[in-house]
Amino acid sequence: MAAGKGTRLKSKHPKVLHEIGGKPILSHVIAAAKKVVPASDIFVIIGHEADRVREAVAGAGVNFVVQAEQRGTGHALMVAREALSGNQQGNKYDQVIVLSGDAPLITAETIKVLSGFHSAQKATMTLLSADLDNPFGYGRVIRKGKATNAEVLAIVEEKSATTQQTKIREINSGFYAFDAAALYDNIDKLSTANPHGEYYLTDMAGVFHRARKKVAAIKTHNASEILGSNTRAEMMVLDAQVRLAKCRALLDQGVTVFYPHTCVIDSDVEVGADTIIEPFVQLLGSTKIGADCRIRSYSVIENSSIADGVIVRPGTIMEDSRVGAGAVIGPYSHLRPGSDVGEGAHVGNFVETKKMKLGKGSKANHLSYLGDAEIGEGVNIGAGTITCNYDGVNKNKTVMEDGVFIGSDSTLVAPIRIGRGAYVAAASCITEDVPADALALGRARQSIKEGWAKEKREARKEKRS
Ligand code: UD1
Ligand code: CA
Repeated sequence: MAAGKGTRLKSKHPKVLHEIGGKPILSHVIAAAKKVVPASDIFVIIGHEADRVREAVAGAGVNFVVQAEQRGTGHALMVAREALSGNQQGNKYDQVIVLSGDAPLITAETIKVLSGFHSAQKATMTLLSADLDNPFGYGRVIRKGKATNAEVLAIVEEKSATTQQTKIREINSGFYAFDAAALYDNIDKLSTANPHGEYYLTDMAGVFHRARKKVAAIKTHNASEILGSNTRAEMMVLDAQVRLAKCRALLDQGVTVFYPHTCVIDSDVEVGADTIIEPFVQLLGSTKIGADCRIRSYSVIENSSIADGVIVRPGTIMEDSRVGAGAVIGPYSHLRPGSDVGEGAHVGNFVETKKMKLGKGSKANHLSYLGDAEIGEGVNIGAGTITCNYDGVNKNKTVMEDGVFIGSDSTLVAPIRIGRGAYVAAASCITEDVPADALALGRARQSIKEGWAKEKREARKEKRS
């Protein structure tokens, strides 16, 4: 179920697209579901901002059911009737498992336990419950007696609960297993006679109980798995939990993460063994980092791939880029999208790159801008070198062939090609191609005025006296 608006978030974005661990909440739930059943058996009920939600999770290969008007969780299942119960020839599915699209910590294991317990109990409806110290806001589970496995009589929502009922700590998680046929034979018995005027799926417990059908509940031991994200405060708690769990998983895989509370590591990030992640590092999106790397403090690396043995020095910003094995980046380098740094290459202080390929062993160590450039192997780029790639209309390309040496403070006006092994003298402005093995000088010739400074000084002294 992912059709709701998420009013309590006060957001223009649909609730299920808010991110936990750098990934939409709904994507977490779908990922867990996909470990239980094939994507073709998953139906995502969308409604509020349906197109945006559909687009965000389209890659998962799941089906969608549109609940155009959101009239409650019961109504969401009514709308899914055709998709889930098939045609007159009979039911498509024996069991329907319902997941809340706003509870991202649910695991495949717990869904399997719920489903298995439901079958073993031969129940018509089974809900996943949990004991919470602070059950406020959740539906409470009303059982027939105190036994752990006592039958469920009803679920009572916070707003409808009596003072006595609000004291119940066992809450409804919003995850259920149903007998599909029974669900759709009885779902029309739901009514909107409640404080929200909605069809509550939770009321199916009472409906089945009255129809003398068994309603069971299984309590999860890991209550944090079922936490919902109805408010920003709840999201903050979940996000911290997901990220800490991610750090723990990395530690288990042989990665060192110092001060994990200060790091922001998204769920899908991969890191190889013996890599060290220093405090205040952000690894975002689909970033992949190899083994034996060191990612130093204050670096922000997004959707990038870094090979083994790379050192990323402090304050490096990297986005949609690739770095080859043994390269050294930073401090304070800015690798913008499309940067591809070769094996053993160096990109140093205050060097900005964009759509640039830097060959094996090449070095740009200080204060440069390298954009729309194809740079060969063993190239040395002096401090302050600038590729003038933009003429106000087009982006033009700079090519530096293998073994080129660019003297400091040179400007290379693209489109331009510096031939294999050529030298560019420091402070040159290069506007024409340089042939291989040549020296290009593009600056005014120096002239000397002997004694000029001394004469000036003496003239000043005379004036004062
Ligand atoms: C629901 C349960 C409550 C339970 C809690 C657990 C009901 C009536 N109450 O409350 O007992 O303790 O979950 O987190 O079910 N949705 C739709 N269509 C709708 C309404 C909601 O798809 O018309 C989706 C929402 O997008 C959300 C999920 O269903 O992903 C749950 O809805 P929400 O409004 O968050 O229910 P809760 O108030 O949390
Ligand atoms: Ca909720």
